[in-house]
Amino acid sequence: MSPFTRILVIGAAGQIGSELTLVMRERYGAANVVASDVHPLKDGPLKESGPHAALDIRDRSAIAALVQEHGCNCIVNLAALLSATAEQHVQAAWEINIGGHYNTLEVARELGLKQVFCPSSIAAFGPTTPRDNTPQSTVLEPTTIYGVTKVSGELLGNYYYQRFGVDCRGLRYPGIISSDTLPGGGTTDYAVDIFYQAIQHGSYECFLREDTMLPMMYMPDCIKCTLDLMEADRAKLSNAAGYNITAMSFTAGELAAEIRKHLPEFTITYVPDVRQNYADSWPRSIDDSAARSEWGWQHDFDMPSMVTDMLAKLTPRLKSNGAGEAG
Ligand code: NAD
Ligand code: SER
Repeated sequence: MSPFTRILVIGAAGQIGSELTLVMRERYGAANVVASDVHPLKDGPLKESGPHAALDIRDRSAIAALVQEHGCNCIVNLAALLSATAEQHVQAAWEINIGGHYNTLEVARELGLKQVFCPSSIAAFGPTTPRDNTPQSTVLEPTTIYGVTKVSGELLGNYYYQRFGVDCRGLRYPGIISSDTLPGGGTTDYAVDIFYQAIQHGSYECFLREDTMLPMMYMPDCIKCTLDLMEADRAKLSNAAGYNITAMSFTAGELAAEIRKHLPEFTITYVPDVRQNYADSWPRSIDDSAARSEWGWQHDFDMPSMVTDMLAKLTPRLKSNGAGEAG
């Protein structure tokens, strides 16, 4: 029995939304999940499998109109500028990541929605945070505008629950690795690009140092933890708007070595750019014991099983039609 009547997904065409929306349509009914993004959806499964609309999250009245038109009682807000893009467009990052989040919370308050889900990130942490096994409750002093919006978003979400009873939930996602939709404008994107380059060209120039360790998660686990949290009993949640969550941690060098077990000719070089600074301010590993104990979080994929699955999915697709060339 679904806890939601209908769900509006904002930012549905992105790396996470393009897969999460399809899984939610299978789980809650195709007609009950409305996919929206700032531009009209391209032809494909997302557009063809259920209701869809163009929606700019900066337009609060348009969000309210869509929610009312479809009878939604939940908003999943995935619209954001990620770390590298946000640093290049600071005002837009604030308007989309925080202005947009505020708009969804206001619509939820005004229309009495059941829930708003909005991800946070490992970018909520900063250089003053302990970087190994980073605790749930710790210093949150990010040095990127993206991180500033993520901490602010968590605080706003918790405030709206305490002040207005709006049930806002979120996860501090680590870097998300997936084979369907390329990530855009992030720092952890290297861990996806590397597969495309390894398969198509046999080599990769990495924009992070070899010893850069970051927390990561494979998309099936990302979808699983998102739905688990959305469906959890609110009474059990002590950190609803910003749970630590993780599945694995590895360095760029360790990922390359694992890929080389499958593709022995693969070579990698390291040419760090400004994204190295962002990665150096984020945790190396995460303590997600609160998520595990409070709502039963368990990951399925570690690094070797993720690499095996990524290569199995991408190799036939990239070899047959050259589609999905990483930028
Ligand atoms: P993405 O960049 O792939 O997708 C974001 C989507 O938002 C895009 O489709 C974009 O068109 C849309 N968008 C941008 N501006 C918009 C606007 N004004 N109105 C409506 N839509 C707009 O990002 P993603 O990786 O799918 O991330 C989704 C969420 O998860 C974000 O909040 C992000 O911060 C968070 N997150 C992602 C990762 C990751 O590794 N992918 C890690 C941590 C947190
Ligand atoms: N994957 C994101 C980024 O690199 C982290 O939130 O920006």
